Amino acid sequence: MALLEVTDLKVYYPIRGGVFGGVVGHVKAVDGVTFSVNEGQTVGLVGESGSGKTTIGKAILGLVPIKSGTILFDGKDITKYIGKNRSDYRKSVQMIFQDVHSSINVKKRVLDVIAEPIRNFEKLSKAEETKRVDELLSIVGMSPLDAHKYPHEFSGGQRQRIGVARAIALKPKLIVADEPVSALDLSIQAQVLNYMKDVQEELGLSYLFISHDLGVVKHMCKTLVIMHNSRFVEVGERHDIYKNPKHIYTRRLIASIPDTDPDMKSVNEAKRVEIGKEYEEQYSNYYMDGGQVYPLKQVDGSETHYIAVP
Ligand SMILES: Nc1ncnc2c1ncn2[C@@H]1O[C@H](COP(=O)(O)OP(=O)(O)OP(=O)(O)O)[C@@H](O)[C@H]1O
Ligand SMILES: [Mg+2]
Repeated sequence: MALLEVTDLKVYYPIRGGVFGGVVGHVKAVDGVTFSVNEGQTVGLVGESGSGKTTIGKAILGLVPIKSGTILFDGKDITKYIGKNRSDYRKSVQMIFQDVHSSINVKKRVLDVIAEPIRNFEKLSKAEETKRVDELLSIVGMSPLDAHKYPHEFSGGQRQRIGVARAIALKPKLIVADEPVSALDLSIQAQVLNYMKDVQEELGLSYLFISHDLGVVKHMCKTLVIMHNSRFVEVGERHDIYKNPKHIYTRRLIASIPDTDPDMKSVNEAKRVEIGKEYEEQYSNYYMDGGQVYPLKQVDGSETHYIAVP
Protein backbone atom coordinates (compact mmCIF):
# COMPACT_ATOMS: atom_id res chain seq x y z
CA MET A 1 0.00 0.00 0.00
CA ALA A 2 1.30 3.45 -0.89
CA LEU A 3 1.70 6.10 1.81
CA LEU A 4 -0.44 8.54 -0.16
CA GLU A 5 -3.02 7.46 -2.71
CA VAL A 6 -4.93 10.12 -4.59
CA THR A 7 -7.74 8.90 -6.84
CA ASP A 8 -9.68 10.95 -9.39
CA LEU A 9 -9.25 14.13 -7.36
CA LYS A 10 -11.25 17.19 -8.43
CA VAL A 11 -11.04 20.63 -6.89
CA TYR A 12 -13.25 23.37 -8.28
CA TYR A 13 -13.09 26.95 -7.01
CA PRO A 14 -16.33 28.94 -7.09
CA ILE A 15 -16.38 32.09 -9.19
CA ARG A 16 -18.52 34.72 -7.53
CA GLY A 17 -20.16 37.56 -9.39
CA GLY A 18 -23.32 39.48 -10.05
CA VAL A 19 -24.97 41.99 -7.76
CA PHE A 20 -25.43 39.56 -4.88
CA GLY A 21 -22.03 37.91 -5.13
CA GLY A 22 -23.52 34.51 -5.85
CA VAL A 23 -21.65 31.63 -7.45
CA VAL A 24 -21.75 32.14 -11.21
CA GLY A 25 -19.37 29.38 -12.24
CA HIS A 26 -16.32 27.35 -11.32
CA VAL A 27 -12.60 27.24 -12.02
CA LYS A 28 -11.74 23.59 -12.52
CA ALA A 29 -8.32 23.89 -10.90
CA VAL A 30 -7.81 20.13 -10.60
CA ASP A 31 -10.00 17.98 -12.79
CA GLY A 32 -9.48 14.29 -12.14
CA VAL A 33 -5.95 13.27 -11.18
CA THR A 34 -4.74 9.93 -9.84
CA PHE A 35 -1.30 9.21 -8.39
CA SER A 36 0.45 7.75 -5.37
CA VAL A 37 3.55 8.39 -3.28
CA ASN A 38 5.34 5.51 -1.55
CA GLU A 39 7.24 5.66 1.70
CA GLY A 40 10.63 7.30 1.20
CA GLN A 41 9.80 8.21 -2.41
CA THR A 42 9.96 11.62 -4.10
CA VAL A 43 7.36 12.31 -6.74
CA GLY A 44 7.86 15.42 -8.86
CA LEU A 45 4.77 17.38 -9.91
CA VAL A 46 5.70 19.67 -12.77
CA GLY A 47 3.76 22.10 -14.91
CA GLU A 48 3.43 25.75 -15.83
CA SER A 49 1.79 28.47 -13.77
CA GLY A 50 -1.93 27.93 -13.21
CA SER A 51 -1.91 24.22 -14.08
CA GLY A 52 -3.21 23.25 -10.62
CA LYS A 53 -0.09 22.07 -8.75
CA THR A 54 -0.49 24.07 -5.55
CA THR A 55 -4.16 23.19 -5.45
CA ILE A 56 -3.27 19.48 -5.35
CA GLY A 57 -0.88 20.22 -2.47
CA LYS A 58 -3.51 22.21 -0.61
CA ALA A 59 -6.10 19.47 -1.09
CA ILE A 60 -3.69 16.94 0.42
CA LEU A 61 -3.15 19.23 3.43
CA GLY A 62 -6.91 19.70 3.75
CA LEU A 63 -6.62 23.42 3.05
CA VAL A 64 -9.20 23.48 0.25
CA PRO A 65 -12.48 21.58 -0.05
CA ILE A 66 -12.49 18.93 -2.76
CA LYS A 67 -15.29 18.39 -5.23
CA SER A 68 -14.79 14.65 -5.54
CA GLY A 69 -12.25 11.87 -5.36
CA THR A 70 -10.39 10.23 -2.51
CA ILE A 71 -7.13 10.98 -0.72
CA LEU A 72 -5.90 7.99 1.27
CA PHE A 73 -3.04 8.47 3.69
CA ASP A 74 -1.79 5.30 5.36
CA GLY A 75 -4.97 3.72 4.04
CA LYS A 76 -7.34 6.23 5.67
CA ASP A 77 -9.48 8.62 3.67
CA ILE A 78 -8.44 12.00 5.02
CA THR A 79 -11.12 13.90 3.13
CA LYS A 80 -13.69 12.26 5.39
CA TYR A 81 -12.35 13.70 8.58
CA ILE A 82 -11.43 17.24 7.64
CA GLY A 83 -12.07 19.47 10.64
CA LYS A 84 -12.55 16.50 12.95
CA ASN A 85 -9.87 14.52 14.68
CA ARG A 86 -7.03 15.01 12.25
CA SER A 87 -4.21 15.80 14.63
CA ASP A 88 -2.24 12.65 13.75
CA TYR A 89 -2.55 13.56 10.13
CA ARG A 90 -1.63 17.19 10.77
CA LYS A 91 1.65 15.98 12.28
CA SER A 92 2.36 13.47 9.53
CA VAL A 93 1.96 15.80 6.56
CA GLN A 94 3.65 19.17 6.26
CA MET A 95 4.09 21.75 3.53
CA ILE A 96 7.07 23.90 2.56
CA PHE A 97 6.07 27.00 0.64
CA GLN A 98 7.77 28.68 -2.30
CA ASP A 99 8.65 31.78 -0.36
CA VAL A 100 9.12 30.95 3.29
CA HIS A 101 9.34 34.65 4.00
CA SER A 102 5.69 35.18 3.18
CA SER A 103 4.49 32.05 4.96
CA ILE A 104 6.12 32.67 8.35
CA ASN A 105 5.60 35.41 10.88
CA VAL A 106 8.63 37.62 10.32
CA LYS A 107 8.27 39.26 13.71
CA LYS A 108 9.10 35.98 15.42
CA ARG A 109 12.58 34.72 16.19
CA VAL A 110 13.73 31.60 14.37
CA LEU A 111 13.37 29.70 17.64
CA ASP A 112 9.66 30.51 17.77
CA VAL A 113 9.12 29.90 14.06
CA ILE A 114 10.56 26.39 14.29
CA ALA A 115 9.08 25.60 17.71
CA GLU A 116 5.55 26.68 16.79
CA PRO A 117 4.40 23.33 15.35
CA ILE A 118 6.07 21.53 18.28
CA ARG A 119 4.16 23.68 20.78
CA ASN A 120 0.91 22.86 19.04
CA PHE A 121 1.38 19.13 19.45
CA GLU A 122 3.82 18.39 22.25
CA LYS A 123 4.39 19.60 25.77
CA LEU A 124 8.13 20.15 26.07
CA SER A 125 10.01 22.06 28.75
CA LYS A 126 11.90 25.17 27.59
CA ALA A 127 15.19 23.26 27.80
CA GLU A 128 13.85 20.31 25.79
CA GLU A 129 12.41 22.67 23.22
CA THR A 130 15.69 24.54 22.80
CA LYS A 131 17.52 21.26 22.41
CA ARG A 132 15.08 20.09 19.72
CA VAL A 133 15.34 23.38 17.81
CA ASP A 134 19.15 23.21 17.96
CA GLU A 135 19.04 19.69 16.52
CA LEU A 136 16.70 20.79 13.74
CA LEU A 137 18.92 23.74 12.87
CA SER A 138 21.98 21.53 12.71
CA ILE A 139 20.18 19.09 10.38
CA VAL A 140 19.79 21.95 7.87
CA GLY A 141 23.35 23.15 8.41
CA MET A 142 22.68 26.12 10.66
CA SER A 143 23.97 27.09 14.09
CA PRO A 144 22.17 27.14 17.47
CA LEU A 145 23.02 30.86 17.59
CA ASP A 146 20.71 31.39 14.61
CA ALA A 147 17.72 30.50 16.80
CA HIS A 148 17.79 33.94 18.37
CA LYS A 149 17.83 35.89 15.12
CA TYR A 150 14.89 37.08 13.03
CA PRO A 151 14.06 35.72 9.56
CA HIS A 152 15.04 38.96 7.80
CA GLU A 153 18.61 38.54 9.04
CA PHE A 154 19.11 35.56 6.73
CA SER A 155 19.68 35.01 3.01
CA GLY A 156 16.93 33.48 0.88
CA GLY A 157 18.65 30.08 0.92
CA GLN A 158 19.00 30.13 4.69
CA ARG A 159 15.35 31.09 5.07
CA GLN A 160 14.29 28.15 2.92
CA ARG A 161 16.39 25.92 5.17
CA ILE A 162 14.57 27.37 8.19
CA GLY A 163 11.36 26.40 6.38
CA VAL A 164 12.69 22.86 5.97
CA ALA A 165 13.62 22.71 9.69
CA ARG A 166 10.13 23.84 10.64
CA ALA A 167 8.49 21.34 8.30
CA ILE A 168 10.44 18.42 9.77
CA ALA A 169 10.00 19.52 13.41
CA LEU A 170 7.24 16.96 14.03
CA LYS A 171 8.99 14.16 12.09
CA PRO A 172 6.34 14.02 9.38
CA LYS A 173 6.03 11.16 6.91
CA LEU A 174 5.21 13.31 3.90
CA ILE A 175 6.23 16.82 2.94
CA VAL A 176 4.53 18.69 0.14
CA ALA A 177 7.33 20.97 -1.05
CA ASP A 178 5.76 23.66 -3.22
CA GLU A 179 8.48 25.28 -5.35
CA PRO A 180 10.84 25.25 -2.36
CA VAL A 181 13.82 26.61 -4.29
CA SER A 182 12.27 28.59 -7.14
CA ALA A 183 13.05 31.95 -5.58
CA LEU A 184 16.74 31.10 -5.16
CA ASP A 185 19.86 31.45 -7.32
CA LEU A 186 20.93 28.30 -9.13
CA SER A 187 23.97 27.74 -6.88
CA ILE A 188 21.90 28.09 -3.70
CA GLN A 189 19.15 25.86 -5.12
CA ALA A 190 21.52 22.90 -5.22
CA GLN A 191 22.51 23.49 -1.62
CA VAL A 192 18.93 23.55 -0.31
CA LEU A 193 18.03 20.50 -2.41
CA ASN A 194 20.97 18.63 -0.91
CA TYR A 195 19.75 19.39 2.59
CA MET A 196 16.30 18.21 1.62
CA LYS A 197 17.77 14.94 0.36
CA ASP A 198 19.83 14.43 3.52
CA VAL A 199 16.78 15.07 5.68
CA GLN A 200 14.84 12.58 3.60
CA GLU A 201 17.38 9.85 4.21
CA GLU A 202 17.61 10.61 7.88
CA LEU A 203 13.86 10.55 8.48
CA GLY A 204 12.72 8.18 5.72
CA LEU A 205 10.51 10.98 4.41
CA SER A 206 8.41 11.11 1.26
CA TYR A 207 8.19 14.25 -0.82
CA LEU A 208 5.66 15.55 -3.26
CA PHE A 209 7.97 18.00 -4.95
CA ILE A 210 6.23 20.74 -6.92
CA SER A 211 8.06 22.77 -9.55
CA HIS A 212 7.53 24.51 -12.87
CA ASP A 213 11.07 23.58 -13.93
CA LEU A 214 12.00 20.07 -15.04
CA GLY A 215 15.65 20.99 -14.48
CA VAL A 216 15.18 21.47 -10.74
CA VAL A 217 13.44 18.16 -10.10
CA LYS A 218 15.75 16.05 -12.26
CA HIS A 219 18.03 14.94 -9.44
CA MET A 220 15.36 14.86 -6.75
CA CYS A 221 12.63 12.69 -8.22
CA LYS A 222 12.53 9.17 -9.53
CA THR A 223 8.93 9.49 -10.59
CA LEU A 224 7.48 12.48 -12.42
CA VAL A 225 4.00 13.71 -13.12
CA ILE A 226 3.56 16.39 -15.77
CA MET A 227 0.51 18.55 -15.29
CA HIS A 228 -1.25 20.88 -17.73
CA ASN A 229 -4.73 22.37 -17.81
CA SER A 230 -5.75 20.79 -14.48
CA ARG A 231 -4.84 17.23 -15.45
CA PHE A 232 -1.83 14.97 -15.98
CA VAL A 233 -0.49 14.84 -19.52
CA GLU A 234 2.36 12.42 -18.85
CA VAL A 235 3.58 10.21 -16.00
CA GLY A 236 6.78 8.21 -15.84
CA GLU A 237 10.10 7.42 -14.26
CA ARG A 238 13.02 9.78 -14.74
CA HIS A 239 14.33 8.02 -17.85
CA ASP A 240 10.86 7.96 -19.45
CA ILE A 241 10.38 11.69 -19.06
CA TYR A 242 13.87 13.02 -19.79
CA LYS A 243 15.04 10.45 -22.36
CA ASN A 244 11.78 9.57 -24.05
CA PRO A 245 9.20 12.32 -23.55
CA LYS A 246 6.06 11.58 -25.56
CA HIS A 247 3.61 14.40 -25.00
CA ILE A 248 4.20 17.62 -26.91
CA TYR A 249 3.78 19.58 -23.66
CA THR A 250 6.47 17.57 -21.87
CA ARG A 251 8.80 18.06 -24.83
CA ARG A 252 8.22 21.78 -24.63
CA LEU A 253 8.91 21.79 -20.87
CA ILE A 254 12.17 19.94 -21.43
CA ALA A 255 13.22 22.40 -24.10
CA SER A 256 12.56 25.24 -21.67
CA ILE A 257 14.93 24.00 -18.93
CA PRO A 258 17.25 26.97 -18.31
CA ASP A 259 20.76 26.60 -19.76
CA THR A 260 23.57 26.00 -17.34
CA ASP A 261 26.15 25.60 -20.10
CA PRO A 262 26.71 28.93 -21.91
CA ASP A 263 28.13 27.11 -24.96
CA MET A 264 24.79 25.42 -25.52
CA LYS A 265 22.73 28.62 -25.33
CA SER A 266 22.28 29.20 -29.05
CA VAL A 267 21.70 25.52 -29.88
CA ASN A 268 19.07 25.25 -27.16
CA GLU A 269 17.43 28.50 -28.19
CA ALA A 270 16.99 27.13 -31.71
CA LYS A 271 15.53 23.92 -30.27
CA ARG A 272 13.10 25.92 -28.15
CA VAL A 273 11.84 27.83 -31.16
CA GLU A 274 11.43 24.62 -33.14
CA ILE A 275 9.51 22.85 -30.36
CA GLY A 276 7.41 25.96 -29.79
CA LYS A 277 6.32 25.75 -33.44
CA GLU A 278 5.67 22.04 -33.22
CA TYR A 279 3.54 22.66 -30.13
CA GLU A 280 1.32 25.12 -32.00
CA GLU A 281 1.02 22.86 -35.05
CA GLN A 282 0.31 19.63 -33.19
CA TYR A 283 -1.82 20.98 -30.36
CA SER A 284 -5.05 19.49 -31.73
CA ASN A 285 -3.47 16.02 -31.87
CA TYR A 286 -2.86 16.14 -28.12
CA TYR A 287 -5.80 18.07 -26.68
CA MET A 288 -9.57 17.97 -27.07
CA ASP A 289 -11.40 21.05 -28.37
CA GLY A 290 -11.24 23.58 -25.58
CA GLY A 291 -7.85 22.32 -24.45
CA GLN A 292 -9.04 19.45 -22.24
CA VAL A 293 -6.50 16.75 -21.59
CA TYR A 294 -7.28 13.15 -22.60
CA PRO A 295 -7.22 10.28 -20.06
CA LEU A 296 -3.80 8.68 -19.53
CA LYS A 297 -2.86 5.57 -21.50
CA GLN A 298 0.05 3.24 -20.91
CA VAL A 299 2.85 3.63 -23.45
CA ASP A 300 3.37 0.42 -25.46
CA GLY A 301 6.06 -1.79 -24.01
CA SER A 302 6.47 0.20 -20.79
CA GLU A 303 5.36 -0.61 -17.25
CA THR A 304 5.93 2.90 -15.94
CA HIS A 305 5.22 5.39 -18.72
CA TYR A 306 1.77 6.93 -19.34
CA ILE A 307 0.66 9.61 -21.77
CA ALA A 308 -2.60 11.48 -22.32
CA VAL A 309 -3.56 11.01 -25.95
CA PRO A 310 -6.80 10.24 -27.84
N1 LIG B 1 -8.56 30.50 -4.10
C1 LIG B 1 -8.81 30.45 -5.42
N2 LIG B 1 -9.98 30.88 -5.93
C2 LIG B 1 -10.25 30.80 -7.24
N3 LIG B 1 -9.38 30.33 -8.15
C3 LIG B 1 -8.20 29.88 -7.72
C4 LIG B 1 -7.84 29.93 -6.33
N4 LIG B 1 -6.59 29.42 -6.20
C5 LIG B 1 -6.20 29.08 -7.43
N5 LIG B 1 -7.15 29.35 -8.36
C6 LIG B 1 -7.09 29.05 -9.81
O1 LIG B 1 -6.90 27.65 -9.95
C7 LIG B 1 -5.98 27.37 -11.00
C8 LIG B 1 -4.83 26.53 -10.45
O2 LIG B 1 -4.09 27.29 -9.52
P1 LIG B 1 -2.83 26.74 -8.74
O3 LIG B 1 -2.41 27.76 -7.77
O4 LIG B 1 -3.13 25.39 -8.24
O5 LIG B 1 -1.76 26.62 -9.92
P2 LIG B 1 -0.20 26.30 -9.87
O6 LIG B 1 0.04 25.22 -10.85
O7 LIG B 1 0.24 26.10 -8.48
O8 LIG B 1 0.44 27.64 -10.47
P3 LIG B 1 1.81 28.41 -10.07
O9 LIG B 1 2.90 27.68 -10.79
O10 LIG B 1 1.60 29.78 -10.61
O11 LIG B 1 1.96 28.39 -8.59
C9 LIG B 1 -5.58 28.71 -11.58
O12 LIG B 1 -6.39 28.95 -12.69
C10 LIG B 1 -5.89 29.69 -10.48
O13 LIG B 1 -6.20 30.95 -11.00
MG1 LIG C 1 1.59 27.11 -7.22
